[in-house]
Amino acid sequence: MIFEQIATGGCQSYLIGCSETSGAALIDPELSQIDHYIALAARDGLRIRYLIDTHTHADHFTATKQLAQQLDVPVVMHRASSAPFVDMRIGDGEMIVVGKLRLQAFHTPGHTSDSMCLRVEDCLFTGDTLLIGATGRTDLPSGDPEALYDSLFNRLLRLDANLKVFPAHDYKGRQGSTIGQELATNPRLQTRERAAFVEMMRNLNLSMPTHVTEALRTNMSGGKSVAQLLAEAAACVPFMALEELKARLEAAEEDLIVLDVREREAYEAGHIPGARALPRGQLELRVNQELPDPTRRILTCCELGYVSTLAAATLRQMGFRHAVALDGGMKAWREASYAIRAGREP
Ligand SMILES: [Fe+2]
Repeated sequence: MIFEQIATGGCQSYLIGCSETSGAALIDPELSQIDHYIALAARDGLRIRYLIDTHTHADHFTATKQLAQQLDVPVVMHRASSAPFVDMRIGDGEMIVVGKLRLQAFHTPGHTSDSMCLRVEDCLFTGDTLLIGATGRTDLPSGDPEALYDSLFNRLLRLDANLKVFPAHDYKGRQGSTIGQELATNPRLQTRERAAFVEMMRNLNLSMPTHVTEALRTNMSGGKSVAQLLAEAAACVPFMALEELKARLEAAEEDLIVLDVREREAYEAGHIPGARALPRGQLELRVNQELPDPTRRILTCCELGYVSTLAAATLRQMGFRHAVALDGGMKAWREASYAIRAGREP
């Protein structure tokens, strides 16, 4: 078996491949690492056949939907998952066949109702059901400490003690463990009586993961994250550096229109000399009056450089083929002590 473990912050993804047939499965991929997974599979001579989420993640953005479109392969989740982009829903005791490899699914609800673990040869991919030195939390949507107790003590921990444990998270850079090690040393597993375990899980008082609302929204619906929208906009827009713009303004370049897409108040408090004001919220509806010549070079700017990227992408979609965004925003412009003008333009 070919095995790759890819860490992104605290998230762990796994690429497992059949050394005989070169087919592979990718477990719990994370959105920012898409190129990394594809490059690793290519380096190892693997073709990804399945994209698997062990559960609906609340703390990171799954890459399964986007990779499925890119690679034309199915997304696999437990049948309790509500995500509409899942192509193959599987149940407890069923297997996914990847070349000569057999990935056996165990339904292990508790962290979420759709949590499953996958056993492949001597490896157990535990998702967030069993972590190294911890367990998944049970206080997020569909979490259930009673179910987690059963999944752990009546399923996973009864498996072979030598099985290697590979969780979906580890925040301390550890690469793996075994069922035996976890049974012996995992602090949460020392509370083996059901009521006491449930009580402990109910009183962990953990803080919410940072992107919980956005991660659940996108992972459950297949919708896009803010970072994804920005990345898509940035991918079809050229940028201009602050110094380059400054030099062109000083040379009084005629073709260039600087378009400040912040709200009027922010514009009047201080803008790039000569910039026109057209707030992002009004862009599409006012573009015909404000920018009658689509052949002009239009440089968008905003406070931080995000909204201006979206605005430049919109302008390009509307046929302004020379729309470009400022690389940075007014904050960086001010910090560089470049010229600012307050109030309205003459
Ligand atoms: Fe999770």
